[in-house]
Amino acid sequence: MKILTIIPTYDEIDALPVTVRRLRAAVPESDVLIVDDNSPDGTGRLAERMHTEDPQIHVLHRRVKDGLGGAYIAGFRWGLERGYDALIELDADGSHQPEQLPDLLARIDEADLVIGSRWVPGGSVVNWPIRREIISRLGSLYSRTMLGLKVRDITAGFRVFRAETLREIDFSTIESVGYGFQVDMTFRVAQNGRVIREVPITFKEREVGDSKMSGDIVVEAMINVTRWGLGARARTLSGRLGLG
Ligand code: GDD
Ligand code: MN
Repeated sequence: MKILTIIPTYDEIDALPVTVRRLRAAVPESDVLIVDDNSPDGTGRLAERMHTEDPQIHVLHRRVKDGLGGAYIAGFRWGLERGYDALIELDADGSHQPEQLPDLLARIDEADLVIGSRWVPGGSVVNWPIRREIISRLGSLYSRTMLGLKVRDITAGFRVFRAETLREIDFSTIESVGYGFQVDMTFRVAQNGRVIREVPITFKEREVGDSKMSGDIVVEAMINVTRWGLGARARTLSGRLGLG
């Protein structure tokens, strides 16, 4: 199996080398793609140096900061064009433990999407402000209810996708930038009738650098989830009434 781990970066100059070193040690067979949005702190140049020293590390530079969702889509396209079988999402900031990636990969033969989950038994968060935990739990609960999904950690950003799972998604129709992107991807995989499995992880809040998530991103996710949820219900109803 050809594996690619995609790491989006925006100003992660201190965290990135540590995360990549841990990843290369934990899953040496995985290639790495850093997707940098022209970070002012020079993360992109650092990534180029890492590429020179290790041919399994690749870099994709984007001109402007365009959100986590856009960075992942660019990374998925890059990986699908090059024939990877499994494509992984991993944050640069140390929140996701590369040492836990083998637990996720161990389940990909029985699933189309494996999610590293904070909110299943055995999962946890460390050093997370209570405010973030409440937003995340409520956000997951609201999305789960609105979208009729069983996934506990819908916004999670530590994931393994099978290439086929991604190939059947039309990326040009993905509108969300922040958490909404993760929810959107989960919803589409489920709508395509694909199997989703959750594996418990320990999510550690970053120790260096700053989070790029903002109130706008939470609002964007809420609005989109409500629209998608109502849209899906309307379609089911018109189908039942024979209007479709
Ligand atoms: N290229 C690029 N462009 N990378 C970005 C951008 C962007 O616009 N915005 C954020 N990133 C990168 C960061 O550099 C980091 O590696 C990763 O995306 C996550 O960003 P954080 O700012 O640390 O986000 P977070 O900790 O709030 O969000 C994490 O948890 C959420 C759920 O609680 C992510 O895993 C989200 O995907 C997840 O929904
Ligand atoms: Mn983070």
